[in-house]
Amino acid sequence: MLFFEYDLYGGIKLDIKRNILLNPGPATTSDTVKLAQVVPDICPREKDFGDVMEFVSEELTNFVGSNDKYTTILFGGSGTASVEAILSSVVDDGTILIINNGAYGKRMCEIAEIYNLNYIEFKSSPIKEINLSELEEIIKKHNLENMRSDKTPISHIAVIHHETTTGILNNIKLIGSICEKYKIDMIVDAMSSFAGIPINMDEMNIKYLASSSNKCIQGMAGISFVIANKESLETTKNIKQRNLYLNIYKQYSYFKDNYQMRFTPPVQVLYALKQAITEAKEETIEKRYERYKECCKILWDGLDKLNLKKLVNEKASSMLLTSIIEPKIEGYCFDDLHDYLYNKGFTIYPGKVSSENTFRIANIGQIYPENMSKFIEILEEYFTGIV
Ligand SMILES: Cc1ncc(COP(=O)(O)O)c(C=O)c1O
Repeated sequence: MLFFEYDLYGGIKLDIKRNILLNPGPATTSDTVKLAQVVPDICPREKDFGDVMEFVSEELTNFVGSNDKYTTILFGGSGTASVEAILSSVVDDGTILIINNGAYGKRMCEIAEIYNLNYIEFKSSPIKEINLSELEEIIKKHNLENMRSDKTPISHIAVIHHETTTGILNNIKLIGSICEKYKIDMIVDAMSSFAGIPINMDEMNIKYLASSSNKCIQGMAGISFVIANKESLETTKNIKQRNLYLNIYKQYSYFKDNYQMRFTPPVQVLYALKQAITEAKEETIEKRYERYKECCKILWDGLDKLNLKKLVNEKASSMLLTSIIEPKIEGYCFDDLHDYLYNKGFTIYPGKVSSENTFRIANIGQIYPENMSKFIEILEEYFTGIV
């Protein structure tokens, strides 16, 4: 239910039902982010709107690096748009190695296939840490073979930071140092970690990062963005364009020259993102990560109490999302559990791995420890009711 009321000063007062989204994004947002979308109509070609986009772009960069070295390129679209934008714009005739340890790594392979890129799929368990010595061996072997044949050397490695399929956190810092050793550009899909887990592009040796407006940055869905190392980005200038909409160099240079996006931006979503950025800066990413982890600990304690088992071991977990193995209890049914919780204001999500039946609980967004405690209480209530 949504109530609008005008206060004495002509401002809008909102009374919005607060749902707690425990799905892995779009995440729960603050009322101030929701309200930031209610603005006077504006043509996105106006300078005032260019200022909003410049603020958004510069501040998103500031979370992970300096604006001297890095730049944020905005697109209207869901998260996949920025991943597709990077893969289709930066790989020339070199080979890209894609680490696949979940649905989103697999999706990068699908994109590489569609664009006919030279790619190697490095498959890894969705629930165990990536074997980095094996990864390094593959790079060495490929480069050796490359000297003897017409295979192109590995120019890029693409990896998911937080694999939202299971909640595993990949060690991008160590992968970044392997990339440094072999002069490889690292691409990171940080869709569900950006602004939730501290990232330093310089220290981690990330050349391109993809994320979106509706996960840990806590804005609305509709903006996909790429944060690129400017020096690396310049080297992509003459790569033959593989699509019209998603070319990152074209999008970057057009904004630089015209102070506008090439195509219609989601105007109101950008105002919400501006507000979400302000709130993230106030909270700081470090403290936000602490808040998320606190919620996770409450969740894990509750799961232990209910004897519900986690799919990924605690050490490898992001603590932003937990995959839970479905209990073999008579009367248990995911849809019933979902509906029970949904009717009480909590949304949970089905699992995504094929090896086990699981469901997922994410603890990102504008949620607090007391929300997680309440959730556990209701979860307990559900399980008590069926046994
Ligand atoms: C790691 C990761 N990559 C990519 C995506 C795709 O984002 P979207 O569904 O917004 O296109 C998601 C979505 O959850 C994700 O978690």
